[in-house]
Amino acid sequence: MITQIKKDIAGLDAIDIIRYIEDKFGTEAVFSTSFGIEDQVVTHLLAQAGSKASIFTLETGRLFPETYYVWNRTLEKYKLPIRAYYPNTTAVEEMVNKKGPSSFYESIDNRKECCYIRKIEPLHRAIKGFKVWITGIRADQSANREDMEAVEWDEVNNIIKIHPIFNWTLPEVDVFLNSNGIPYNPLHDKGFPSIGCQPCTRAVQPGEDFRSGRWWWEDKSKKECGLHITTK
Ligand code: ADX
Ligand code: SF4
Repeated sequence: MITQIKKDIAGLDAIDIIRYIEDKFGTEAVFSTSFGIEDQVVTHLLAQAGSKASIFTLETGRLFPETYYVWNRTLEKYKLPIRAYYPNTTAVEEMVNKKGPSSFYESIDNRKECCYIRKIEPLHRAIKGFKVWITGIRADQSANREDMEAVEWDEVNNIIKIHPIFNWTLPEVDVFLNSNGIPYNPLHDKGFPSIGCQPCTRAVQPGEDFRSGRWWWEDKSKKECGLHITTK
């Protein structure tokens, strides 16, 4: 299956990859958006293709105000339903009552616990029952991602992952956003190339690594929240 999809989409533009997913999988595809610039491009393409894929966001409870702003602009512009998944209330209450509201700064284990409760467990609910999971990942976002492929089998979640703009560069994303009047997070113009939760994301200096503002207090090798780990 994966081999066939790889063959079928080789050399296709992003919009044709989206159309391919639409033809083959229709409502069995789901797209995850964090409202980052890449995800905004994918949302635009899904709208352009008249896609029936579902769209969801993981509302961790710790997002930037600017993320809610762009979420609203996106609903207004595209009129597509975007389903929010929240963390399990009991799990968040237990963690915060035991360790306080900022336990993630204290150890990698605490950070992973928070990411698990606020992102990974809700992700499992969000992608359950779908065959294809679409993301806005690009290869040049990080060294890790350069080793990924535009189509992958996610053996942790038992789902096919497709990244339609995998080969796009950052300037290509910017040009596409601007020429199509796509709403985007105002933080992108303030030095935030990659945006996650507010306490765990900061601006980067020109020339600094794309993801260096995420979990900036941790070693580079440990900076994964686990959403995109595809092997057991
Ligand atoms: S992360 O693993 O570091 O958090 P990143 O922010 O680069 O991921 O985003 C990569 C892709 O993961 C996005 O294109 C999107 O598909 C998905 N993603 C990340 N964060 C969220 C979120 N909060 N809600 C939904 N999808 C998300
Ligand atoms: Fe928690 Fe930070 Fe992970 Fe968000 S990015 S879920 S606040 S540890």
